[in-house]
Amino acid sequence: MPPKRIAIVTSSTRRPRLNPTITQYVYDVLTTDPTLPTTPLETPDTNPRHIVFEILDLAKQSLPLYDESVIPASLPATDPTPHYSKAHTRAWSELVRQYDAFIFVTPQYNWSIPASLKNALDYLFHEWKGKPAGIVSYGGRGGGRRRNI
Ligand SMILES: Cc1cc2nc3c(=O)[nH]c(=O)nc-3n(C[C@H](O)[C@H](O)[C@H](O)COP(=O)(O)O)c2cc1C
Repeated sequence: MPPKRIAIVTSSTRRPRLNPTITQYVYDVLTTDPTLPTTPLETPDTNPRHIVFEILDLAKQSLPLYDESVIPASLPATDPTPHYSKAHTRAWSELVRQYDAFIFVTPQYNWSIPASLKNALDYLFHEWKGKPAGIVSYGGRGGGRRRNI
């Protein structure tokens, strides 16, 4: 069994942005933690306990504002990728399917996530479903406050 692949997602896409610096910090902390059984992606490794961390930058995915004509949740759960109507969605689906878990590194924008992250999440459904996810947030006011409703 191959090692588990965990994507550390750089979620803001404006230029300039702070996100790549914080993503790199999270990556460095995780890949140097002696308690985690990490392995570099290029190292052949069949130990199922091992994990690989990879940085996935939303700014490099060329996703337009949501324009998919199908509803992601309505597609076949086992193989949704070929059923999307747009090439960029199929590419995004194929990429996300490769990961077993996600760490979203995200700023707060108006007490929520940036539109770039919401957009990237909305494009898919089964590719995320049931996979563990964590959030590292930051912001001008710390990134921890939730909007009162
Ligand atoms: C549109 C916008 C909205 C923001 N809203 C918040 C907010 O609600 N709370 C907060 O703590 N910081 C807020 N900030 C500050 C950002 O979290 C901070 O500038 C952060 O560094 C932005 O990350 P980035 O450089 O990766 O885009 C906001 C910034 C922008 C651009």
